[in-house]
Amino acid sequence: MRLIGSLLRRLSPLLRSQAFRLQSQMDIHERSLWHNASFARVTGGFLPPGARDAHSIEEAEPWDLVRRDMLLLLMRDIEVRRVYGSLAEVGVYRGDTARLIHHYLPHRPLHLFDTFKGFHKRDTDSEAEVTGNAVASGQFLDTSVALVRDRIDPQNGNVVFHPGVFPESCEASIRRERFAFVHLDADLYRPTLAGLEFFYPLVVPSGYIVVHDYNAWHGARKATDEFLGDKPETAVPMPDKSGSAVIVKSN
Ligand SMILES: C[S@@+](CC[C@H](N)C(=O)[O-])C[C@H]1O[C@@H](n2cnc3c(N)ncnc32)[C@H](O)[C@@H]1O
Repeated sequence: MRLIGSLLRRLSPLLRSQAFRLQSQMDIHERSLWHNASFARVTGGFLPPGARDAHSIEEAEPWDLVRRDMLLLLMRDIEVRRVYGSLAEVGVYRGDTARLIHHYLPHRPLHLFDTFKGFHKRDTDSEAEVTGNAVASGQFLDTSVALVRDRIDPQNGNVVFHPGVFPESCEASIRRERFAFVHLDADLYRPTLAGLEFFYPLVVPSGYIVVHDYNAWHGARKATDEFLGDKPETAVPMPDKSGSAVIVKSN
């Protein structure tokens, strides 16, 4: 007991500091202090309709529970409302979000776009021009299609890789597909704008586009605001760590 007391006393300045905040679980999570099992049972909580086991979901993305829970609830919503269409992510890196998306909705095709070699010089050059921000090179290099496939551990043939620089990496056949959920996580202005231009017409009414880093990266924010300037939708800001924005496609 004495040892634990002394450890807690030593840790307390850190625990009280502004930089260190523990995120708690949402009340629909069974580990929440305020968990209401009957509410979660009636509404379904996080689980996809009809599912019983949340194990693989609970362990996903523990460093940003708000982001994880936002993505789960949006994906749950398209299931509950029967918003039909495929899923896509632009900016996959080592596949953490892609794994979450695929394991939550394994029955929907998931298209994954990344260079798998980090940022393209054309995009970082344009970032400096458009936002005035120099982006450090050498980021997101430690990945590959094989590594991501292994980490996702696909449950079926629904995970489709499109390696290369986006949007040139989009085959013509993808334009014939319709999407219910698109996650844009390429950080920079140019690929974010290209992602919005490419997917917006393909997203079905009341489907979702989530732009990650809307409140963290200048380029992601600027691309989103510019793109939506003449559209009926607005970017709804979310309080996850890097501030995603959610766009609900109107009819
Ligand atoms: C922040 S990481 C993505 C993180 C990922 N969603 C996760 O779950 O960890 C950004 C990724 O965007 C990719 N990217 C940026 N611009 C791109 C482009 N024009 N084409 C393809 N991939 C791009 C980078 O290679 C990098 O892997």
